[in-house]
Amino acid sequence: MDLGLTGKTALVAASSQGMGKAVAMGLAREGVRVAICARGRERLEATAEEIRNETQVDVFAQTADLSKVDDITRLVQAAREHFGHIDILVCNAGGPPPGNFLDFDDSAWQAAFELNLASAIRLCRAVVSDMKARGWGRIITITSMSVKQPIPGLILSNVMRAGVNGMVKTLADELAPYGITVNNVMPGSILTQRIVSLAEHREEEANTTTEEILDHIAQEIPMKRLGNPEEFANVVVFLASERASYVTGTAIQVDGGRIRSAW
Ligand SMILES: NC(=O)c1ccc[n+]([C@@H]2O[C@H](COP(=O)([O-])OP(=O)(O)OC[C@H]3O[C@@H](n4cnc5c(N)ncnc54)[C@H](OP(=O)(O)O)[C@@H]3O)[C@@H](O)[C@H]2O)c1
Repeated sequence: MDLGLTGKTALVAASSQGMGKAVAMGLAREGVRVAICARGRERLEATAEEIRNETQVDVFAQTADLSKVDDITRLVQAAREHFGHIDILVCNAGGPPPGNFLDFDDSAWQAAFELNLASAIRLCRAVVSDMKARGWGRIITITSMSVKQPIPGLILSNVMRAGVNGMVKTLADELAPYGITVNNVMPGSILTQRIVSLAEHREEEANTTTEEILDHIAQEIPMKRLGNPEEFANVVVFLASERASYVTGTAIQVDGGRIRSAW
């Protein structure tokens, strides 16, 4: 299938490693010029170089902390100046800290809001007018399967992801007449640094090892394994493509069948 993506431009947020990087690489393999960002410069530049070397596409990289409004403004401005416009926006960010309800005060809730919900709102706001004027756009958010089934011990994430999904559903309705699709992709357990860090956090309290925790998670998944970032990215790349032109307002889990509910 020709995805019809050659020559498009994309901004993939939080993309120096993990799923964001896999999405940027996946888009670049389809001929998309990609802007990537992260806080840490060294890994970001190494990733940009890796994508350039493998795909020969133009990669624009800029450090940004997505929990900071000014960084987002600067990032989108610079990416737009570099490419002329942004066709595809992939909203992603780091995950908030694990913990239960009574572990968090207002400042922790505010920080999770800035990182995971406000960043998506701000990124969308920065690109939507341009997409409307051009009559074409793709917005894809990376959230979590917790939108469908909240995960114990991840209350900050559970709440913010649900907010992002609400925004996606509303925006999809509002932007459909302008040729812009808006979809949410929900990872289950994808083998990245984030899931390893969460397992390390549980290691001590569960009196076990990271490997055993990851293996235990795998046993809860019908496919009996964690996903890899490329498997996740393939779904995002399809949604970003011309071929997904009639898909909007969806929330798609990429979880190896882990969520058992029919909806
Ligand atoms: N992996 C899973 O199974 C899974 C499941 C459900 C949901 N999720 C969520 O999906 C998202 C991506 O996860 P991942 O597994 O790909 O994580 P990851 O491998 O840890 O990668 C996170 C990426 O985001 C960047 N980042 C983190 N905080 C940032 C910030 N404030 N501003 C800009 N960039 C930032 C990191 O670079 P810097 O550190 O240099 O900034 C890195 O490039 C997270 O929100 C995670 O909670 C993951």
